[in-house]
Order: sequence, then structure tokens, then C-alpha cells
Amino acid sequence: MSKTSSHLTAGLAPRERFADKVVVVTGASRGIGESIGLAFANEGAKVIAIARSAMDQTKFTPVNFDFANANQKQIRELVDEIIAKHGRIDVLVNNAGIIRRAPAVDFSEQDWDDVLRVNLTSPFFLTQAVAKWWLDKGRAASPNDSRLKIVNIASLLSFQGGITVPAYAASKHGIAGITKALANEWAKERINVNAIAPGYISTDNTRALRENPTRNQAIKDRIPQGDWGQPHDISGAVLFLASHDADYVNGAILNVDGGWLAR
Ligand SMILES: NC(=O)c1ccc[n+]([C@@H]2O[C@H](COP(=O)([O-])OP(=O)(O)OC[C@H]3O[C@@H](n4cnc5c(N)ncnc54)[C@H](OP(=O)(O)O)[C@@H]3O)[C@@H](O)[C@H]2O)c1
Repeated sequence: MSKTSSHLTAGLAPRERFADKVVVVTGASRGIGESIGLAFANEGAKVIAIARSAMDQTKFTPVNFDFANANQKQIRELVDEIIAKHGRIDVLVNNAGIIRRAPAVDFSEQDWDDVLRVNLTSPFFLTQAVAKWWLDKGRAASPNDSRLKIVNIASLLSFQGGITVPAYAASKHGIAGITKALANEWAKERINVNAIAPGYISTDNTRALRENPTRNQAIKDRIPQGDWGQPHDISGAVLFLASHDADYVNGAILNVDGGWLAR
């Protein structure tokens, strides 16, 4: 049952917390990112969905962009284009991510560079470009009580090392680090920078693990709640961090993991 319908069955009016807000979600062509985009669209937001492949989502404004082959200048031009077309950005969700698996002794430089570029370097420069617009123009053109909201999608591997995923662990520890570093620098500028650490979520990114009966069972046995999470389990927490309800939350990393990190 999706969040919105549970709200309706509770007899409450559908929430429109993001009416007239422009929300950028990276990696919105499937999985967690698509679910986050849908959740924002269901609450009235204009969702700019960024990914490489075509997105047939009537609810999104799709933008095709490859974060694996983009430099700081190209990312800044992407933000300039979005601002020119849509006037503003109120929320940025850095969700796009890849994972490459190999024993650390055999890990290739290409895989290392690709993972760090998509999961850490490009999100940093995208966030930098959006914050620069906010500090230069956006803030002055916004109601006094509004704040720019940045939500990064981190991982359990922001806290743990994992097995045969050294670049992924490095990138997700890095995302946790810049979440805190940027919150420190921008909290006084009406900007919130926070992150979500999803547990094991059923998407393309984790298909290999679910299709391995031994690993699949071992993971389910290790999760206090006993099963994999679903993409929509993440979107609710992202919308909270992006809402006024979290205006005093800054530099936080919220685990959404069925209790994994508590054990
Ligand atoms: N699933 C989990 O258990 C889990 C757990 C913790 C954290 N996470 C994190 O959650 C985020 C989403 O993961 P997911 O499980 O939903 O993965 P997914 O199903 O593989 O989706 C990844 C998304 O990222 C986009 N993407 C990948 N490379 C890109 C590139 N070079 N340029 C632009 N977009 C790119 C993909 O779109 P295109 O291929 O169309 O470009 C896709 O929309 C990632 O940051 C992941 O690390 C996932």
C-alpha cells in the first residue's frame, strides 16, 4: 500500500507539502529514485528527473544526463539549464548510484573511477552548483521561511565496509562526510543538507544478492525486520527531510534499514 493511499484511507486530505516546489531527483529512471520522484509528484511538486535512459514517467520532466562522464563545468551548465527552464530549485535529491563488485586485490582503476565519479564527485559538484545559485539568487527570490533542501542517498556502507565493494564503500563514506561538511558551511544560509542510509532494498542494484539463495537468506536473517525493504520505504523519509518538518535537522544521516544498524 503506497504512502499516499494510506493517508487517504485515514480520511485525511492528500498532502500537498511540495505544491509549486521544483524538485530535482537524480537516478529517477527506476528503483529508489523513481519511487522518490513519484512521491514528490504525488504531493504536488514539479519533478525534474535526471538519468541516462528514457523515462516514460508522465509525472516527471525527464532530463538525460550521464554523471559518469561529466565535469564540474558541464554539471554547472546542467543546473543553469534547469533554472532557465523552471525558474528555481527547492529540493535536490542526490540518488543516482552504481555498484561494482570485485575482490579489492583485483579492483580495476576504471571501476574505481566510475563508482567514485557517479556516487561522490558528481553529486558534490551538482550540490555545489545548486547551492551557488541559491546563495547568489535563489534565496533572495524566496519566501523568508523557505530553505533549500539537499538530501543525499547514502548507504549502510557509509558506516560499514561490505565485501568486494571497496569503491562503493569509499564513495558512501564520502557522501556521509560531505553531508556533514556542507551542513556546517551552509546551515546559516537557509540550506539543509541531510542523508538517508537505506538498508537492503529490492532494486536492480541488489538483484545479484537476491538471486544468490545463500546471500539472500543470510541477509534476511540478519535484518531485525526479517525482509528486504522496498523503494517506497525510502521515499517517505526523503520527503520528511525535504519538508518544513525537518527545518532544524542538518548534517544528519537517517538509517532506513529495518533495524540492520541497530544490531
Ligand atoms: N538498493 C539498495 O539496497 C540500496 C541500499 C543503499 C543505498 N542505495 C543507493 O540508492 C541509490 C539508488 O539505488 P537503486 O538501488 O535504486 O539502484 P538502481 O535501481 O540501479 O537505479 C540507479 C539509478 O541511477 C541512475 N544512474 C546510474 N548511473 C548513472 C549515470 N552515470 N548518470 C546518470 N544516472 C545514472 C540509473 O539510471 P540510468 O541507468 O537510466 O542512467 C538509475 O535511475 C544509489 O545511490 C544506491 O547506492 C541502494
